[in-house]
Amino acid sequence: MTTELIKIRGLTENAEDFSRAGRLLKAGNVVAIPTETVYGLAANAFDVSAVKKIFEAKGRPQDNPLIVHISDMDDIQKLTSEFPEKAALLAEKFWPGPLTMILKKSDKVPFEVTAGLSTVAIRFPSHTYALAVITAAGVPLAAPSANLSGKPSPTSAQHVMRDLSGKIPMIIDGGKCEVGLESTVIDMTGDIPTLLRPGGITLSMLRDCLGEVQVNPKILEEVDDGEAVASPGMKYKHYSPSAPVVIVNGESRAFKNFVLENAGDKKVAVLCFDEEIPLFDNSPVSVVSYGRLSEPDELAAKLFSALRSLDDLDPDIIYAREPDCGDGLELAVVNRLSRAAGFSKISI
Ligand code: TXA
Ligand code: MG
Repeated sequence: MTTELIKIRGLTENAEDFSRAGRLLKAGNVVAIPTETVYGLAANAFDVSAVKKIFEAKGRPQDNPLIVHISDMDDIQKLTSEFPEKAALLAEKFWPGPLTMILKKSDKVPFEVTAGLSTVAIRFPSHTYALAVITAAGVPLAAPSANLSGKPSPTSAQHVMRDLSGKIPMIIDGGKCEVGLESTVIDMTGDIPTLLRPGGITLSMLRDCLGEVQVNPKILEEVDDGEAVASPGMKYKHYSPSAPVVIVNGESRAFKNFVLENAGDKKVAVLCFDEEIPLFDNSPVSVVSYGRLSEPDELAAKLFSALRSLDDLDPDIIYAREPDCGDGLELAVVNRLSRAAGFSKISI
């Protein structure tokens, strides 16, 4: 299959391309689309054989459920059997935007989408082109991140092309994704809302809106083999370059000394903050930075493409720096980086 990459200039200029994407989706095909978080690989959420194509193209484990994307609040009734008051509050405040809510599913949602669960993940994205494709398709779209399973999520159409070229018919190229990390996932089915995946809508924003919000501890801890998890995605190794990643915490100077002392004859790369680039001047270490420590938005936006650049360097080992985390966007950055490192961390 040849993969068509369509560079979008605007809704009007590319009106026919959006219609074509809609027709492909209606006919049971998959299409990769930009969103404000990361690129998604979309299919008609009500079409079981279309949904199966997503799992095939990504090599995604069958027990990892998909997020359903909507462009109209009326779709909520079709997809859920219950929409709690607190969910309505979140929708009012943060939709459209980078927030996914876990809700009780309706009978219409196929178990292939929810991986057998009685709940469904729903998101109303804000990206104009994502909304245009959903509207053109005329149905809610199931869409995971458009990467090969296990690889960093794609934040540009070129990332999608590298992972899925030849496996899908069309990529809508809307440029770089603004947030750069996947949406916040919050479980709204219990008495107290529970954060399952941190993202662009931060824990502090959720608490400001709802009051009490629990945090699933597995956000910052490794899941043991066979352990039950609230969100199947927590079980899988994610976002990983081919080389092992080790997070090193401590002062910048101590970090530099640690890296140089441990290099030996290994090909070493570091993932650091912009401020730390000069530390490795005149050393054999390859340096990739992912933004200024003082700007968590930058770190979030650049993390995944930095992990992909590190992969291209083909190092033996990657030493990485993480920001301190509280209840802001840093929590999402630390969560993704920790998973890329398989939770391997050293303090010096
Ligand atoms: O920003 C995003 O959310 C992107 C864009 C494309 O919208 N999508 C995305 O999808 O990140 P994906 O499939 O890569 O991640 C979905 C996460 C997985 O960790 C999955 O286990 C979890 O959401 N999930 C989906 N349905 C669930 C459910 N019913 N209960 C608990 N977790 C669920
Ligand atoms: Mg993903």
